[in-house]
Amino acid sequence: MALKVYSIKQLLDGEALLQEVTAKGWIRTFRSNRFIALNDGSTLHNIQCVVDFENTPEDLLRRLTTGAAISVSGTLVESQGRGQKFEIQVKNIEILGDSDPESYPIQPKKHSLEFLREKAHLRVRTNTFGAVMRVRSALSFAIHQYFRQNGFYYVHTPVITGSDAEGAGEMFRVSTLDAKNPPLNEEGEVNYKEDFFGKETNLTVSGQLEAETYAMALGKVYTFGPTFRAENSNTSRHLAEFWMIEPEVAFMDLDGNMDLAEDFIKYVLGYVLENCEDDLKFLEDRLLQEEKSKPKDERSEMTLTEKIRFVLDNNFKRVSYTEAIEILKNSKPNKKKKFQYLIEEWGADLQSEHERFLVEKHFKAPVILFDYPAKIKAFYMRLNEDGKTVRAMDILFPGIGEIVGGSQREERLDVLMEKVKEMGIDEKELWWYLDLRKYGTAVHSGFGLGFERLVLFATGMTNIRDVIPFPRTPQNAEF
Ligand code: 4AD
Ligand code: MG
Repeated sequence: MALKVYSIKQLLDGEALLQEVTAKGWIRTFRSNRFIALNDGSTLHNIQCVVDFENTPEDLLRRLTTGAAISVSGTLVESQGRGQKFEIQVKNIEILGDSDPESYPIQPKKHSLEFLREKAHLRVRTNTFGAVMRVRSALSFAIHQYFRQNGFYYVHTPVITGSDAEGAGEMFRVSTLDAKNPPLNEEGEVNYKEDFFGKETNLTVSGQLEAETYAMALGKVYTFGPTFRAENSNTSRHLAEFWMIEPEVAFMDLDGNMDLAEDFIKYVLGYVLENCEDDLKFLEDRLLQEEKSKPKDERSEMTLTEKIRFVLDNNFKRVSYTEAIEILKNSKPNKKKKFQYLIEEWGADLQSEHERFLVEKHFKAPVILFDYPAKIKAFYMRLNEDGKTVRAMDILFPGIGEIVGGSQREERLDVLMEKVKEMGIDEKELWWYLDLRKYGTAVHSGFGLGFERLVLFATGMTNIRDVIPFPRTPQNAEF
């Protein structure tokens, strides 16, 4: 009779006690020629497999090395030893794939995150990355669940586009032209008419503009896909390829947008608290260890779960840009010239040092900043009555800075046209976007949440390169 293969999670939950079971996984450690710690990714925890070494051939024992893939069969029993409730009394071991112990990089000891980044194809076999990636997966599910429960439709916006939604010009070109010898037009410029799409195209920086077209028919929609930015920001919070969640809702104004974003973030973080207990506990302990190496006054006062709970239990502070500038102007770091960029006047763009001051030092809570100067925001944001601010909102999080950027959209054709001209945007590229303002225009709003920044917050990791399987950053597209 074929034995049922159980996941290690099922076995550790006590399913199949006293039965003959088979488990398959990768060896984490093998000690005293007797105890295998086996992991299959279904949970953070390993199952202990007790080998009857007297009756196991010497050459098989030698092949039980860290990293090897094996199948073990035996009886699931309650463990007498400490540290685990159940273990497998092994009757049979099959080596599915050997691992060279001399060169296998993931040894049973602490490796630095920097070292593991170089081994991104194997790092998920460590406890830390296993936990992070399981939380990432749970968060993705929670996101879809939230929108589904709230009547949103999921739309797939294109990855290749001809428009620059954010107008920041930080795009990756998509082309099949011969880079060495491109066709030229009469002006001596590259002739994109001969390119694959007959025009210049790039990888999208945001699905928003296309999502707006769907919101103006389906009412409530969201996108959740990869976005690309060729900004040369080598920071712990920027990726060249990241995932963004962008809801867009017809007939919703900026206040509704703030309510939606806050409710959404609380739901998905709450989901993780409820469904990722083991992984969060592990990540919390990891963070505590890491904090111990910091000077006392830089250590966080809260544990990871306390931080998440704090977000769930408190209202986000809603503060206008104008108020924020007043606070920053009069702040200690500004007066003592501790900010790298001093805040001198209204209109200044906020840097992450300012955002983090507001969140971490001043309000000590997530902050929603709104009504920014039109000049520092994208063309599509709705102009306020004052003629100089727009209905923008950014959500700022402790340890992260900006996690959400969004706005109410300019629904008035004449105002939008003026903006397009003012900002030197090619209106021929945007004809379809402008059409929305001609045919049944209406108030509408949306926002973009940077998925990796959310995962950073939920896992307590500090570098965005450690919360996406294969990070793309300047000078780095390995794997
Ligand atoms: O503020 P952003 O640029 O907003 C937009 O793209 C809008 N079109 C969204 C919308 O209204 N539908 O980006 C949104 C969020 C940021 O708040 C940040 O969390 C994340 O995307 N983000 C990045 N995450 C990682 N790496 C980068 N280079 C990022 N750039 C933005
Ligand atoms: Mg932004």
